[in-house]
Amino acid sequence: AAPRRKCLLGNWKMNASLDGNAALLAAVGQSLAGLDQRVQWGVAVPAPYLAQVRGLLDGTPGWLGAQDCSAHEAGAYTGETSAAMLREFGCRFTLVGHSERRSLHGETSATVAIKARQALALGLTPVVCVGETLAEREAGQTFDVVKKQLSVVIHEVGHCVGELIVAYEPVWAIGTGLAATAQQAQEVHAALRAQLAVATPRAAQMLLLYGGSMKPSNAAELLSQPDIDGGLIGGASLVAPDFAALCQAAA
Ligand code: G3P
Repeated sequence: AAPRRKCLLGNWKMNASLDGNAALLAAVGQSLAGLDQRVQWGVAVPAPYLAQVRGLLDGTPGWLGAQDCSAHEAGAYTGETSAAMLREFGCRFTLVGHSERRSLHGETSATVAIKARQALALGLTPVVCVGETLAEREAGQTFDVVKKQLSVVIHEVGHCVGELIVAYEPVWAIGTGLAATAQQAQEVHAALRAQLAVATPRAAQMLLLYGGSMKPSNAAELLSQPDIDGGLIGGASLVAPDFAALCQAAA
């Protein structure tokens, strides 16, 4: 089988401005001009900036993405953005089930699964985020927690499982500066790939990203693990030289 591509996706979270986006992507685009084509990069931006960032990414290989999508198709859902709307603005992917959505907005795995199905129905790649809290890790529940989160999505999307991207983001590593070790991340990724393999013959081709304090100083080791195909990058995706360095570390 062909080796999997690497994929580095920035998650800007609620950090953006018209001027800041333009400066950031100009610098990123310049640094990544000669990047190995087997490395895919992209950015998940706040919804109001989709149109602007689509323009900024024009002529680059960078993927445009959203940070969330509605579980509903259309209608009386104030404040929500549908997968169809994201598609219309040129999104290639959307995050679903980021831990901040789960913990701060009460999203259940059932809702996350429906969002993934909605995204797939519109031709968007769902980047399904899973991860355990520190308490769950300390209680020895890491594998149970992430597999449960993923299994709900696997059941909901049926024969489309192979089209997902999965991001393992241990909650205790997000924004803390304390990334999982390469070994901790690799063993969870291997377990997730084994779980996917039961559901789809495409598991070996699927992209599994690590997220949580990934930065230039730890990227090479994380990205050299056999089941880590890239990263979902928060803080470092807002710093052009850092994001570029992460993409280059994957090449
Ligand atoms: O989705 C990416 C994220 O949650 C990781 O954030 O800032 O730890 O890279 P950060």
